[in-house]
Amino acid sequence: MYPDRVLSGMRPTGALHIGHYHGALKNWVQLQNEFPCFFFVADWHALTTVYDETELIGRNVWEMLIDWLAAGIDPNQSTIFIQSRVPEHAELTLLLGMSTPLGWLERVPTYKDQIEKLSHKDLTTYGFLGYPLMQAADILIYRASLVPVGEDQVPHIEMTREIARRFNHLFGREPGFEQKAREAVKKLGGKRAKLYDELRMRHQQHGDDDALEQGRALLADAQSLSMGDRERLFGFLEGSRKLILVEPHARLSAAPRLPGLDGQKMSKSYGNALAMREEPAEVTRKIRTMPTDPARVRRTDPGEPELCPVWQLHLVYSDEATRQWVQVGCRTAGIGCLECKQPVIDAILAEQGPIRERAQVYLDDPTLLRNIVADGCDRARKAAQETMRDVREAMGLAYS
Ligand code: TRP
Ligand code: SF4
Repeated sequence: MYPDRVLSGMRPTGALHIGHYHGALKNWVQLQNEFPCFFFVADWHALTTVYDETELIGRNVWEMLIDWLAAGIDPNQSTIFIQSRVPEHAELTLLLGMSTPLGWLERVPTYKDQIEKLSHKDLTTYGFLGYPLMQAADILIYRASLVPVGEDQVPHIEMTREIARRFNHLFGREPGFEQKAREAVKKLGGKRAKLYDELRMRHQQHGDDDALEQGRALLADAQSLSMGDRERLFGFLEGSRKLILVEPHARLSAAPRLPGLDGQKMSKSYGNALAMREEPAEVTRKIRTMPTDPARVRRTDPGEPELCPVWQLHLVYSDEATRQWVQVGCRTAGIGCLECKQPVIDAILAEQGPIRERAQVYLDDPTLLRNIVADGCDRARKAAQETMRDVREAMGLAYS
């Protein structure tokens, strides 16, 4: 079995806001301590919807990458790269397209929605229909097992799993696989071989997940096997195929959703966002002018935190004692709204200090960022090429 690997990506939207920070980047920073991580800028994905205004892509890519590093993504731990600099993504997209039913793409929940929602734009393009397939290739090409994403992306990960399964089923045959696998079982030795056969049967005939886990553990312990035999036995355990592509799992972040400054979804295009590297004076101004519970017209009117977007910020930024102070103070008109907002302002400024500092290093020396990303692209490309070798061979393209 392949070791766990994390992959995630973002479209290049330029400077990120605190919603991206709490919703995604903090999670990425955590994950890099636990697993090998690949994080990439999905610049080709941007073209699936904004194919007609491309002059901003470059600037947006670098701005966003600065925010990743400023958030604490560590280039010594994680591989940071740009999709279009690893053209193997396109090759895998093309090859997966050969066997992906059109219906799978048409049924992606966001597909028809988006075409209707963005009706000012013609999205009845091949690229827009195909973008979830491109996303599947982004993931599968690194054999990533874990994909940290938001709720809205879960259907894409589900489809990626189906594409991987179908690929393994169609192309995961090697000549004489079954016989080679049976010989490999013997190499496990009498007692282990018997247990393996039993667990395999329990999993395949009764869908017993426990047996699958035990079988995997058994193989992980089997020191004497060659790499090839080990892969075969992992594949044989699950089906009768060699696993070429890995089925990924979505990994949702536990962070509460940060609303925009007006209580709607935070988005740069709605003008209700607070940037990760907002000017401190702007942080103060934006929070101070935020709307609050509309029922609190006068200072003496009591309010209700549940009806106030500022409260949502306290949920992210304040400790229990401060929240208690807000709950009581708001409902009894014991505190004013500006007073209530101050701890949030202080917390955001404290959070953004180190972020702005880390960003400054890259703003001062643009080559530093270019070098980090060039190095990441090289590393990503090596990993992608390894998978592509197996894919080409499996699909009958490695002929001489
Ligand atoms: N589609 C994702 C988004 O819009 C971005 C993305 C592209 C991605 N490829 C990916 C995310 C692969 C995770 C894995 O947010
Ligand atoms: Fe909102 Fe705080 Fe004002 Fe209550 S006191 S309405 S929670 S800003």
